[in-house]
Amino acid sequence: MCWRNTLGLLLLVFVQRISAQIPSVKSFTSSSSSFLVDSNVRIVVDPAFANSGSPSLFGFAQTFRSDLVSVTGLNNISQVQTGDASSITAPTVFLTLGPSNSSNLTLFNGKSTVEGYSFEITEKLYTIRGVEAIGAFWGTRTFLQQVILSISGGSNPATIPTGTGEDNPGWEVRGFMLDVGRHWVETTFLADLCIYASFFKLNEFHIHASDFVPNTDILQSANWRELYTGFRFQPPSDSPVFGVVPELNESWTQEQFTTLQTTCSDHGITIIPEIDTPAHSVVITKWKPELMIAGSPDLLNITFPETIPTVKSIWNALLPWFTSSEVSIGADEYSEDLANDYITFVNDMNQYISETSGKSVRVWGTNEPSMTESISTNVTIQHWWFPGGSIPVQLMEQGYSIINSDQVFLYLDGKFSDEGQYPWSLNATLLWSGAPDGKGWAPNIFSTTDSTNNTSIDNPLLRGSIMALWNDWGNNATTPLELYYQLAQTLTQDGFENIYSILNAAAPGQNLNRATGLPAGSEVFSYDNIPSKSLPLQTNFRSVGPPYTFSFSVKPTHSDSELSSIVLFTGMDSILYLDSLSFEDAVTKIRYPLGIDLPLDTFTSVEIHATVNHTYALLNSSSEPVYWTSDLSIRGAFMQLVNMSFAAPSHIIGGSGFKGELANVSLKLGD
Ligand SMILES: *[C@@H]1O[C@H](CO)[C@@H](O)[C@H](O)[C@H]1NC(C)=O
Ligand SMILES: *[C@@H]1O[C@H](CO)[C@@H](O)[C@H](O)[C@H]1NC(C)=O
Ligand SMILES: *[C@@H]1O[C@H](CO)[C@@H](O)[C@H](O)[C@H]1NC(C)=O
Ligand SMILES: *[C@@H]1O[C@H](CO)[C@@H](O)[C@H](O)[C@H]1NC(C)=O
Ligand SMILES: *[C@@H]1O[C@H](CO)[C@@H](O)[C@H](O)[C@H]1NC(C)=O
Ligand SMILES: *[C@@H]1O[C@H](CO)[C@@H](O)[C@H](O)[C@H]1NC(C)=O
Ligand SMILES: *[C@@H]1O[C@H](CO)[C@@H](O)[C@H](O)[C@H]1NC(C)=O
Ligand SMILES: *[C@@H]1O[C@H](CO)[C@@H](O)[C@H](O)[C@H]1NC(C)=O
Ligand SMILES: *[C@@H]1O[C@H](CO)[C@@H](O)[C@H](O)[C@H]1NC(C)=O
Ligand SMILES: *[C@@H]1O[C@H](CO)[C@@H](O)[C@H](O)[C@H]1NC(C)=O
Ligand SMILES: *[C@@H]1O[C@H](CO)[C@@H](O)[C@H](O)[C@H]1NC(C)=O
Ligand SMILES: *[C@@H]1O[C@H](CO)[C@@H](O)[C@H](O)[C@H]1NC(C)=O
Repeated sequence: MCWRNTLGLLLLVFVQRISAQIPSVKSFTSSSSSFLVDSNVRIVVDPAFANSGSPSLFGFAQTFRSDLVSVTGLNNISQVQTGDASSITAPTVFLTLGPSNSSNLTLFNGKSTVEGYSFEITEKLYTIRGVEAIGAFWGTRTFLQQVILSISGGSNPATIPTGTGEDNPGWEVRGFMLDVGRHWVETTFLADLCIYASFFKLNEFHIHASDFVPNTDILQSANWRELYTGFRFQPPSDSPVFGVVPELNESWTQEQFTTLQTTCSDHGITIIPEIDTPAHSVVITKWKPELMIAGSPDLLNITFPETIPTVKSIWNALLPWFTSSEVSIGADEYSEDLANDYITFVNDMNQYISETSGKSVRVWGTNEPSMTESISTNVTIQHWWFPGGSIPVQLMEQGYSIINSDQVFLYLDGKFSDEGQYPWSLNATLLWSGAPDGKGWAPNIFSTTDSTNNTSIDNPLLRGSIMALWNDWGNNATTPLELYYQLAQTLTQDGFENIYSILNAAAPGQNLNRATGLPAGSEVFSYDNIPSKSLPLQTNFRSVGPPYTFSFSVKPTHSDSELSSIVLFTGMDSILYLDSLSFEDAVTKIRYPLGIDLPLDTFTSVEIHATVNHTYALLNSSSEPVYWTSDLSIRGAFMQLVNMSFAAPSHIIGGSGFKGELANVSLKLGD
């Protein structure tokens, strides 16, 4: 069966029909020998194409080398060279460009794609021939996956069977979306997500970058300005739209965003930025309240003469930031009573963005019952819901291009889902059963119940799919790493589970698992007695991801007035305070108290156990776990208690202001 995970499942369709070998490629005919991947392996780029593409073939080859060093641990693999494949002496991975011999690397709908590659493996030469540089890059992902699986199968050094084959995506758009409008995250985290997703050959990261955390009562009250809002692009302070950013400390500078885009494109991923108007616009009405529909601060009244110029001025300031050829203007969930105005708005914005930047526009599928107007067919519609949303098969008949983000198959919500609507990770059973041929869900399937809503795999207007992780409950529902856990969670279908966990653990270029490199069950560090004068004590581990067990005994001797600032342990992702044994998320700065204050002048032993789903403490060897939780406001309708997972604050033992003794500090892998 084909290899895939929540992210990779969108890529399952990278390959045509699923074949037996893992990782699955479109075709592979093996012969009986093998190519050995030891420290002598060289990476050679065809000089005729070294500078082709952006990033260039040579640039991709350098990323490949550092990833190969990472997955094999062979630090002394030579630097990338350019040269001729015919004069090889050592085992060589040769990267070149050119059409495949079968000239058959097309999408399911028959359109050509530059992302395909063919490969030919002999004992001494592994040739990857991309249609363009990006195709060769995907070919290096396949190579790395083969190496990882060979090593995990016990082979040292790794070996790859000889043979020939080819591979290409079935779909143009293979993406994932993260709602960062309702949850603050840093661009470095998003860059790591790009690197991770690219290992599974996804090619788009849709960033939903403006929104508010819904609460019906507050929205309709005079206090609507208290609603949490995010607008993540920070225009320069002299820009006329500078005021749209509600909190500067929760926004990205152009330099940070540019670095993010570069990191992503260096890994074959395009960022599709979204600024969502004319609904979901509390962040804009906080800035310009005169633009709202009276009583609905989330909706802009687009018939006011100043509204569309204001939205255009925001895009005008930000379009120069974006390197993608497409952007999303959101445009979902607006009032159906204003259908004509809505359509005028979308067309006006489409024309404006096209004229000022040459970029194309996407909107969320929104059924606006206009009798007279229609959206320009060069706007791509991202379908997400039935019933009520626009109907994708009908839109395709009318000439619109469609991206499938159907919520039944492809939506997640951070940590908690209202009415159990969305699963914690994408539903493997559903996705594997979603097609009549038993080969799994694919982007042409929009409905579980009504086959008239599906289309064929070769529909020329079906561009692909984007899965989405929403953050409806805001910052205090999840840490950024918890968002990663949900995105990366495996599909658990038989035969896939082992492969996924191996590839997840070895995916190079980022360390979102905050792995130590030590085997499962290892002791990361242990300090029995730490003289007070040695505190704070720095370890070699900046952060350690779950599952882990973190134990210590602490005897605090501070005065009560000092309590709130006393830090026990600090890591890159989390801080543990003495006060109420609170964990703080290092990114959102939100504190989550355990609700237990330790007695002064006596030792209490604390054992913290964490998995990706929770963190709890056992005090004085008690058998009663006490969990770190958060209480979420679900649209203001009710409160929902959820567990929190924190990475271990493993970097500094005994932080600022700590007075007292710490003993038996140990961190072990495994919960
Ligand atoms: C790389 O280092 C290993 C271990 O030190 C050594 O055995 C091997 O010969 C080196 N390979 C090369 C190509 O220098
Ligand atoms: C092209 O690919 C299709 C589908 O994988 C296959 O049926 C066809 O035989 C291939 N054609 C050639 C010339 O390889
Ligand atoms: C493609 O054809 C050329 C010329 O026949 C041959 O040298 C090469 O090995 C083939 N490549 C693949 C990937 O089959
Ligand atoms: C929007 O503004 C116009 C005036 O430009 C007004 O006539 C209309 O009632 C407003 N729409 C809503 C839904 O409030
Ligand atoms: C899309 O079509 C509209 C007219 O309907 C035109 O103004 C715009 O320039 C076109 N955009 C692109 C990207 O071609
Ligand atoms: C997953 O999908 C299957 C098949 O539709 C369904 O029976 C099951 O309840 C779903 N599981 C979850 C957790 O939503
Ligand atoms: C559409 O999907 C449904 C279930 O998801 C399935 O029963 C039906 O056969 C599919 N139709 C086509 C044409 O793929
Ligand atoms: C499918 O499409 C029809 C219209 O053709 C629509 O009425 C129905 O609600 C859609 N929904 C689902 C889940 O298939
Ligand atoms: C940003 O500043 C606001 C207002 O001072 C504060 O509430 C929020 O916690 C800060 N966010 C971060 C990530 O520090
Ligand atoms: C842990 O045990 C010690 C000694 O038995 C006791 O003094 C202390 O209060 C206990 N701590 C907690 C939090 O119960
Ligand atoms: C975390 O929770 C999800 C949803 O309940 C579950 O599918 C997953 O297996 C859990 N993971 C671990 C490591 O407990
Ligand atoms: C989390 O945020 C919500 C607002 O979205 C707030 O009502 C709730 O009290 C917060 N919970 C905690 C534990 O801070």
